[in-house]
Amino acid sequence: MFKTIIAAYDGSDHAKKAVEMACDVARRYEATLHIVHTPQVPGETMMVGYSAVPLPPSAEELEKAGEEAIGKAKAVAAENGIAEPVTHVRPGDPGRTIVEYAKTNEADLIVMGRRGLGNFGAMLVGSVTHKVSQLAECAVLTVK
Ligand SMILES: Nc1ncnc2c1ncn2[C@@H]1O[C@H](COP(=O)(O)OP(=O)(O)OP(=O)(O)O)[C@@H](O)[C@H]1O
Ligand SMILES: [Mg+2]
Repeated sequence: MFKTIIAAYDGSDHAKKAVEMACDVARRYEATLHIVHTPQVPGETMMVGYSAVPLPPSAEELEKAGEEAIGKAKAVAAENGIAEPVTHVRPGDPGRTIVEYAKTNEADLIVMGRRGLGNFGAMLVGSVTHKVSQLAECAVLTVK
């Protein structure tokens, strides 16, 4: 049933649990595990008159953040029995990136945290999980 599984990793503990669970499912189904990460770097701001204008992060900053995060995700996968996951790092909108990658690779399952790095306690699920649950064509497993 599950041949291609995607774990979405944002560096949070929630996402770490998602990678762990994705590894478990991948091992049981002998599926290929893909890990998708969209680097998000807090941009600096520039003062224009009296207002702070956000500056987009540089390509180098994004690449460095992406490599660091995917390295951590790969280490979690290795600890959980998946030595060589396929990895995909792409800056942009995380929800859209995950959904499009899942479509392109004909994934059967996306595993993600119910929450992530954001900290709005009032929300039950984060915005990325909300978006992916709505737009994905395959099953989505949200990990608490
Ligand atoms: N940049 C990202 N790259 C890859 N996966 C992500 C990314 N951001 C979130 N995810 C996935 O989505 C899950 C939920 O994160 P989400 O961003 O929806 O919640 P949040 O950070 O708590 O809330 P919000 O970002 O809306 O403030 C994460 O555990 C992770 O699996
Ligand atoms: Mg988030």
